Amino acid sequence: MPRVAGRLAALPEYMLAAIPQKKRDLLARGVDVIDLGAGDADLAPPPAAVAALAKGAATPALNRYGFGLGLPAYREAVSAWMRTRFGVEFDPLREVVPLIGSKEGISHLALAYVERGDVTIVPEPGYPAYIGGTALSEGTAYKYALRPRTNFLVDLDDIPADVLRRTKLLYLNYPNNPTAAVAPRAYLEGVVRRCREFGILLVYDNAYSELAYDGYVPPSIFEIDGARDVAIEFHSLSKTYNMTGWRCGWAVARPEIAGALARVKSFVDTGPFMAVQAAGVAAIESWREFVPRNVAVFRERRDAAVTAFREAGFTCPSPKASMYLWVELPESLPSATFADRLMEEEGVIVMPGSAFGAGGEGFFRVSFIVPPERLREAAVRAGRVLASLANLVG
Ligand code: MLT
Repeated sequence: MPRVAGRLAALPEYMLAAIPQKKRDLLARGVDVIDLGAGDADLAPPPAAVAALAKGAATPALNRYGFGLGLPAYREAVSAWMRTRFGVEFDPLREVVPLIGSKEGISHLALAYVERGDVTIVPEPGYPAYIGGTALSEGTAYKYALRPRTNFLVDLDDIPADVLRRTKLLYLNYPNNPTAAVAPRAYLEGVVRRCREFGILLVYDNAYSELAYDGYVPPSIFEIDGARDVAIEFHSLSKTYNMTGWRCGWAVARPEIAGALARVKSFVDTGPFMAVQAAGVAAIESWREFVPRNVAVFRERRDAAVTAFREAGFTCPSPKASMYLWVELPESLPSATFADRLMEEEGVIVMPGSAFGAGGEGFFRVSFIVPPERLREAAVRAGRVLASLANLVG
């Protein structure tokens, strides 16, 4: 047997990989499991998307290869939505890349741009596809710790100029997973300016753009002057339309950047199932009616979770966006110890901050993806574990 490549060794364990089996084991033991691990809501997709998938699956032409082009109507729906939602224009054929979920595109993009020795700036805590794409491309991740002191923003002025000069990609994600932080427009303007100055490709992960509360409206990076020269933006149907398992998303960028990603993909996959793309069209077309109702459900869950976790003795801000609470732990309590004990003793699954990289230590993530009463129950159980561990570490 050949030895596996060194790049595989550079990949950390995927944060969610072990959870499904652990959950099965708990359920087999009869535990009443409350799973707040993945950002994967228990809610239904838009009915029009479900109907379009069924119809598409029964349409022979949509069961054939999509190849990179895919369903032109999907590209057109994406382009029209980007215009309506953000006021930005993208050519459906040359500037939109249909993706098998935004994770796939984010990981593969690095193969187009990163070579051994190149640097990528990876926020920690952060979505593991950033570190994964970098490792698979044999790049070097410059890990930047997102901390409350900087409002969980990457401050490029903190990064030495010689690192910035060697940097190919900067990954940013606001609204942020897992911290739920949002980025002020002035901050984004500064980032675009620096990326232009250093010739860095800004990889803007906007998967949570439609899950925002209290009047906050997340922008597209392309609303910022000059971004078109230096950015690619990723979107997903997963969170906006409760379609995580469908694997459908897109990237938008000027033709040179979009084309580089599409070229990698042409050797890796054959595009999302075209019936799923047809469902994507239906989902996007339902945006105006579907999203406000869906967001109202998440808002109720957010409020219940914030109140309950605070009452249980935790400190967490009420997030303006995303489906996550980023909850602080006492300093001496490792997040993995807390999360393991919470799962083993109380059947509640949360993500330890350290699962998102060392910069996430000191926190844990709660996905508010189940009804309020279950969130309240989870918080009570988490409070019990906190109390018993605080006695030990305190
Ligand atoms: C999460 O952060 O829970 C992700 O969205 C799930 C994943 O794609 O791994």
